[in-house]
Amino acid sequence: MGWLVTGGAGYIGSHVVRALAQAGITPVVLDDLSTGFRRFVDDSVAFVEGTLLDQPLLEKTLREHEITGVVHLAGFKYAGVSVSRPLHTYLQNVTGTATLLDAMLTENVTNIVFSSSAATFGTPDVDLVTEETPTRPESPYGESKLIGEWLIRDVARAHGLRHTSLRYFNVVGSGSDDLFDASPHNLFPLVFNALAKGDRPRINGVDYPTPDGTCIRDYVHVSDLAHSHVVAARKLEAGEALEPVYNLGSGSGSSVKEIMDAVRRVTGIDFEPVIGDRRPGDPARIVATGELAARDLDWQMRHTLDDMVASAWRARQAAGADYPA
Ligand SMILES: NC(=O)c1ccc[n+]([C@@H]2O[C@H](COP(=O)([O-])OP(=O)(O)OC[C@H]3O[C@@H](n4cnc5c(N)ncnc54)[C@H](O)[C@@H]3O)[C@@H](O)[C@H]2O)c1
Repeated sequence: MGWLVTGGAGYIGSHVVRALAQAGITPVVLDDLSTGFRRFVDDSVAFVEGTLLDQPLLEKTLREHEITGVVHLAGFKYAGVSVSRPLHTYLQNVTGTATLLDAMLTENVTNIVFSSSAATFGTPDVDLVTEETPTRPESPYGESKLIGEWLIRDVARAHGLRHTSLRYFNVVGSGSDDLFDASPHNLFPLVFNALAKGDRPRINGVDYPTPDGTCIRDYVHVSDLAHSHVVAARKLEAGEALEPVYNLGSGSGSSVKEIMDAVRRVTGIDFEPVIGDRRPGDPARIVATGELAARDLDWQMRHTLDDMVASAWRARQAAGADYPA
């Protein structure tokens, strides 16, 4: 008996795996290691190396490990890259999710928690996004996540799955010094990599219509996020109804300049960022209320911005040469 974590060797998945194990739920990981790391998964956890696109492997894994639910995190997450690689993005995120759902139906696995994204909203025209805010994704990535939500909703309607989709906002920090975000496109790894090389971190655009001119994002700590997955898994397993979608946002945002201040404070490194041009497709501000998730998923900000920066920096330092440049 256990829960399958697809993408469990990735940044967020590895935190979810540890949170499930600590809560007494046996995790089983399926990961193709395309962006994840085998060492992120403890040897005590069953690990299946393979892709979501391999339906016989999925079915065998579900059956042999007597899986009762799935946390589905595996996917291609680089929104910017998805614009030039739409087929790859749809294959991994849409075909992959459809294949997983088909395998779940075959093996009669009826619970699923899905990793969705703030990218489903595109550029919202409200200060505080709620679950009612219209979705207008602006990249194949955001579209693929929205289609994933629809696939799960429709299969649930037809076949009776219990499900929820969690739309993460900007996930940062580390719950343990041996786990980190290795994305070459996210702000924290970019800033840390620049500092590690002795370069000046870069701010993309200082002329946005925000108080300090830089983009505002809603940063949430990966351990807080992982905890809410455990709550969702438990509730689904117990047959409790959950909303189809929750926003995992904090209700407040931080600007890129504020992040740079926090990095200076936490690392003790004094630097002056390079000011660059805007990146196409970056909304000025996206911040969500997490009220619904607070009500149902024990979603709380248990970490400050400085905790997020400090824990991510510690993990970056601990990884040393193992950190992808
Ligand atoms: N990091 C964020 O801020 C953020 C925000 C919103 C949503 N998400 C979503 O959360 C999920 C996890 O993100 P992450 O930051 O941990 O990314 P990640 O790249 O570290 O993790 C993804 C994991 O999935 C694996 N994987 C990818 N395609 C696979 C496939 N076809 N079969 C099996 N395994 C596969 C990778 O090897 C990796 O271990 C993704 O679905 C992402 O879209 C992340």
